[in-house]
Amino acid sequence: MPFYERDVDVLFDSATLNARIAELGAAITKDYQGLELTLVGIMKGSVFFLAALAQAIDMPVTLELMGVSSYHGGTETTGEVRITHDLTKPIHNRHILVVEDIIDTGLTMRFLLENLAARHPASVKVACLLEKPSRAKVKIPIDYRGFVIEDKFVVGFGLDWGERYRNLPFIGVMKAD
Ligand code: IMP
Ligand code: MG
Repeated sequence: MPFYERDVDVLFDSATLNARIAELGAAITKDYQGLELTLVGIMKGSVFFLAALAQAIDMPVTLELMGVSSYHGGTETTGEVRITHDLTKPIHNRHILVVEDIIDTGLTMRFLLENLAARHPASVKVACLLEKPSRAKVKIPIDYRGFVIEDKFVVGFGLDWGERYRNLPFIGVMKAD
């Protein structure tokens, strides 16, 4: 039996994820025709989504990564975020699409959007694989969204539980024990 089977139930299998990501890629390709686009993936959770989305976009793109770590006040992010890995190039006058695994309270994304805006890109939009709107503390404009989910803790396709399960090729829900 696969290593995860005791702990994780499948929520979106790999075919479902890839079909939805293909749709997002097609929409992005259409929207950015004639423009130069930089995808900024947020480490580490977005890297599987970033790779799949980039391959679903039918035009040249450049890739950048940003690493952030949130300070946790108890179990939740406080919204105070520290940059652990910054962009390697200036983004002044470039079209930026931030690629994130999940928007939960929205506090991480709010920090990122403010931080990126201060660098004066031509535009900034947001793509996320998952959104948990029931947990939102701040309103984030999401331009490309994979799936809306209930308030459940999910893992896989980049998302972790204590750094585990990122390598599952699907999105799963941790089983209640
Ligand atoms: P936010 O600042 O509350 O929106 O938190 C976003 C970050 O929290 C994401 O980038 C994830 O790293 C993490 N996160 C939120 N919900 C989940 C989940 O269900 N599974 C795994 N990580 C999560
Ligand atoms: Mg995480």
